[in-house]
Amino acid sequence: MKTPLGIFDSGIGGMTLLPAIASLLPHENILYVADEAYSPYGEKSQKELLERTRIITQQLIAEGCKLIVVACNTATTQVIEQLRNEFSLPFVGIEPGIKPAAQHSKSGVIGVLATQGTLNSPMYLKLVTQFKNEIKVVEQIGHGLVNCIEDNKMDSSETRARLTNFLAPMLTAGIDTLLLGCTHYPFLIPLLKELLPEQVTIMDNSAAIARQIKRTLTKHNIVNRSKTKGITHFYSTQKNNRLVNFVVQEVTHLPL
Ligand code: DGL
Repeated sequence: MKTPLGIFDSGIGGMTLLPAIASLLPHENILYVADEAYSPYGEKSQKELLERTRIITQQLIAEGCKLIVVACNTATTQVIEQLRNEFSLPFVGIEPGIKPAAQHSKSGVIGVLATQGTLNSPMYLKLVTQFKNEIKVVEQIGHGLVNCIEDNKMDSSETRARLTNFLAPMLTAGIDTLLLGCTHYPFLIPLLKELLPEQVTIMDNSAAIARQIKRTLTKHNIVNRSKTKGITHFYSTQKNNRLVNFVVQEVTHLPL
């Protein structure tokens, strides 16, 4: 595979970015790594996250990747700066899109659902502080949601109960915008639509990330000039992986 984009997440979450990337950059090849053997990332220490993301980055570089997409809010907000300092290729990360959510909100109250690692990171705190005079932000850690999603329980009674509890304080506070600050959570959009009043808009950052990848490829002059459709290859660090439940292709075990 010629000069792919390397994309990784703790599991299937980063796959929610793939449609936006494929539509904007249809000729790019992709190597996707799901670090399922070490999932979830949300409650891991910064040290552990740096170890995992460093190992995955080294592997993706060894396979010829030209750019790395950290398709995980937790890893981005916790360690992307260290990765940028250690490796010379460009990185694109994903963080909760507070700015577009703030611009969209009419009530001036937004909800952010994300992992503990993301909500406690200095990067997120800095981001949210910039808007503290404009909007009220109601944050909620999505305890247990990543495991429900990885287990393909998008609509189980457990997932419903968790979401119902997480949304209650946000709705009491009057949110009109719910920001999904974890790449796994878009898998829950059908259930969220059922649980939320119609006037609440659900937002994620995937289209903005695809545009940022395109800008970065263009800036470094590494856009794939081929006219053929790009190929995506999937890896999982777990032998009996769960990624197979979500993709039609074969998934290669990568014992990292
Ligand atoms: N999908 C990731 C994120 O965006 C990681 C979630 C997890 O593994 O806890 O935060």
